[in-house]
Amino acid sequence: MSSPSKGRKLRIALSTGGGDAPGLNAVIRAATKTAYHLGWEVYGIQEGLAGLIDPRRKLVRIDPEDIRGILNQGGTILGTANRGNPFKHVVRTPAGPKEVDLSGTVVRNFRKLGFDALISIGGEGTLGIAHQLFEKGIPIVGVPKTIDNDLLGTDVTFGFDTAVSIATEAIDRLHSTAQSHRRCMVVEVMGRYAGWIALNAGVSGGADCILIPEIPFDIDAVCDKVRERDRIKRMFSIVVTSEGAVPRGGQRVLQEAAQADHVERLGGVAEWVGREVQKRSGKETRSLVLGHLQRGGHPTTFDRLLATRLGSAAVRLVQEGRFGRMVALKTPRIVSIPLSQAIRRLKTVPLDHDTITSARSMGISFGDLPGPRERRGSGYGPSLRRKTTT
Ligand code: F6P
Repeated sequence: MSSPSKGRKLRIALSTGGGDAPGLNAVIRAATKTAYHLGWEVYGIQEGLAGLIDPRRKLVRIDPEDIRGILNQGGTILGTANRGNPFKHVVRTPAGPKEVDLSGTVVRNFRKLGFDALISIGGEGTLGIAHQLFEKGIPIVGVPKTIDNDLLGTDVTFGFDTAVSIATEAIDRLHSTAQSHRRCMVVEVMGRYAGWIALNAGVSGGADCILIPEIPFDIDAVCDKVRERDRIKRMFSIVVTSEGAVPRGGQRVLQEAAQADHVERLGGVAEWVGREVQKRSGKETRSLVLGHLQRGGHPTTFDRLLATRLGSAAVRLVQEGRFGRMVALKTPRIVSIPLSQAIRRLKTVPLDHDTITSARSMGISFGDLPGPRERRGSGYGPSLRRKTTT
């Protein structure tokens, strides 16, 4: 494809969609600075891609002074929306809410406004919409974002490092109170379909048990781990669970209000695990949900740098006229891959990931193996059997 920039001042639009993540503002800043350096104009579409349905209200020009001081700021100066899908735009009708396809309006408005390219910053949902809009003729470049780190095609998404740091600090803090009270503490972190945050923060924070969506757990195995800790006189336990962790044969725990609203909002698995652990093992247990604390506040240095590199690279992709692609980290380089590849499926934690292997080798439970008592002579892995029978 030929470069669209030859001798012409381009007008590009930026949009942030889905749940916010620390580093969004760093992407906006880097993309804007790079574009202005090339002599281009930059606009922001507010509240996700659906902002292009009503650009009179949801379009802002981004001037260099608008991005001053935002490098280290959490959130997004453009606002974002979880339900910003123009292909399934919800309108109220007398018969109740109805979904209509307004993608044609989005394409028309994009052209009417004279934009040359759209940089869409988002996770799997947003980039899926971006891909559909690209197929309808909008020249789009994607930038991978999500604290859940569940996007294919990039080593890591920005926002993830910050979320893991926040969760790890919380686990550190829970240790002292758990130890003082000789309690079991169950902490729920984000991770709808993928357990990256729970795994990384759990291992970094020294958790005793980590529950992730990829490994259905047995509540009795969790209790066994807690009892084992008491037996070896450690007297306190830390369980880290992804919000999307599922008990074996059970279902993901949804918030009641969201169920009534027909929205799949997760939350409550830590409370359930905590209650069951206390009931079954007799160990005094408390639970907490870290929730949106993991998405707020300053990005870490790693996320700022990654977001900056991605934002600037996205503009260079526009300059080269390479659309329908997503910039990505393939350490040590920033590369680009087709959007279609990035949204093929979610990137969940592979069960043979070395962090899981290392965690298991250090005795961290994933709530899947039976506890030492049942394991005796049960035919579980040779090293485990050897350890429990000697
Ligand atoms: O950003 C992804 C995520 O953090 C999920 O882990 C979580 O289920 C979801 O966002 C919650 O987002 P919200 O409360 O904004 O709908």
